[in-house]
Amino acid sequence: MAPKRKVVVIGAGPAGYVCGIRLAQLGQDVTVVEKQYWGGTCLNVGCIPSKALIAAGTLLDKIKHAQVMGITTQGVDLDVNKLVEWKTGIVGKLTGGVHGLLKNYGSKVIMGTAKIVDKNTVQVTGGDGDQTLKCDDIVIATGSEPINIPGFTCDEDNVWSSTGALTPEEIPGHLLVIGGGYIGLELGMMYRKLGSEVTVLEGTPGALPGQERDCVKVIERSLKKMGIKLVTEAFAQGWADKGGKKVVTYKGKKGEQTIECDQILSTVGRRPYSEGLGLESVGLTVTKQGFLEVSKQMRTSVPNIYAVGDIAGQPMLAHKGSHEGLVAAAVIAGKDEEYDARCVPAVIFTSPEMSSVGLTEDQCKEKGLNYRTGQFPFAASGRAMTLQETDGFVKIISDADTDEVLGVHMVGPEVTELIAEAALAIEMGATVEDISRTIHAHPTLPESMMEAAEAVHGTAVHIYQKPKKK
Ligand code: FAD
Ligand code: NAI
Repeated sequence: MAPKRKVVVIGAGPAGYVCGIRLAQLGQDVTVVEKQYWGGTCLNVGCIPSKALIAAGTLLDKIKHAQVMGITTQGVDLDVNKLVEWKTGIVGKLTGGVHGLLKNYGSKVIMGTAKIVDKNTVQVTGGDGDQTLKCDDIVIATGSEPINIPGFTCDEDNVWSSTGALTPEEIPGHLLVIGGGYIGLELGMMYRKLGSEVTVLEGTPGALPGQERDCVKVIERSLKKMGIKLVTEAFAQGWADKGGKKVVTYKGKKGEQTIECDQILSTVGRRPYSEGLGLESVGLTVTKQGFLEVSKQMRTSVPNIYAVGDIAGQPMLAHKGSHEGLVAAAVIAGKDEEYDARCVPAVIFTSPEMSSVGLTEDQCKEKGLNYRTGQFPFAASGRAMTLQETDGFVKIISDADTDEVLGVHMVGPEVTELIAEAALAIEMGATVEDISRTIHAHPTLPESMMEAAEAVHGTAVHIYQKPKKK
């Protein structure tokens, strides 16, 4: 058996803690150093708390719109403190679980800020006390932080980043969101459901740049239906306090304009975080965007230093980081492993939800691929009707020559769950016919995936498709 390697993992987000657990499972001598919170951004101020509040907002909205099913409710109210307390409880359970799992598997855990001194030495300060760790390998998993744009420094009081928005003391009267990407739309829609008036300023010509445009159209319609104002090609310039109100100036299609609001939420993207990490001491440099470049084995240009998660490149998603953490752990433990995932699914918890995996239609066009598409609307799904959620569709893009699935894009009820089948299909090189020949249980939402596959071939049963001319 190969001797145990001494490994220091810096950062305990979904990339770092997963790597730490797997290293311990593989019998390595691992120490995980975390400066702020076990579970990182994801568990503390990201994926989990945001989804808790979004679930509450969705429930409140459903209750308010339940009359159509004959359910009338009175005195429906929101206790913001209780909501935040409930969310904090979930975060506490999960972060405690991560810390406990690391320890149970035999990983050492140290609270403190890590700095690389040389390729085999990490200095830890603060937290559990200053100490020097000697090691064979280092895994950098330091994540990312919100970007601040000029005029809008996130002080979490007047100007929230997502972190401030996840611990409200009250629901703002009018929330102005800068940036109509993942966080802006997820949290903007959530606040609308909790009672805020919401305006979103987005710099590009449409919401969610880079996502499948057919799906985004459904989201943009939904924003309108919900009463959320989306102002596109609008760049916020600055803000001033005028009698307790915040007046935000932005440059839009009609020149410079102002808008009055009670709270500003800035969600213009995140950037990789490596401040004070001592990269220079080992000759590591970051790209223009701040990422560390890695090989398929997750090694940086210094072979015994690995990087995983948000710091290691796009997409900055928790599950991509965790997967990279598993790869790095296996490589360190001497396994012949590399990052060779064919696709990374993306899930957006808007209303309706959106999810996507593989190539978009725009990307197929750019690559000059011979592709075809099939689409099945949830309006034709019995299950969607019983859920009273018929907006949206499943769209499959396939290689016209080989029938292989190239991309699947969904918008509609529970599509953040449905995308798993599509990811498996792409990962396994499945054809559209494989999906259409798989019996899907009735009545369920995944039947829409099967019908979309049939639609690619013009044979969907539950929508009318004009027969193709022979
Ligand atoms: P992080 O989770 O950022 O963890 C890095 C850790 O390193 C931190 O705990 C930090 O304190 C620590 N650290 C940094 N420097 C040092 C140092 N020098 N010494 C010691 N410790 C250090 N992704 C999804 O996939 N799905 C979602 O639904 C989703 N929702 C999100 C919602 C919000 C509001 C936000 C902000 C993000 C969301 N994300 C989501 C993105 C997701 O949170 C990140 O992709 C993920 O957390 C990245 O994991 P990571 O381990 O690379 O970094
Ligand atoms: P984002 O990149 O998704 O969106 C930022 C938006 O701000 C873009 O639409 C961009 O065009 C716009 N923008 C940038 N500068 C602007 C300006 N000056 N004025 C107006 N608009 C401007 O970034 P976001 O929402 O901050 O999220 C960061 C990352 O966190 C995401 O990219 C994603 O990787 C991750 N995330 C994932 C979630 C999920 O998986 N469900 C949820 C939330 C975040």
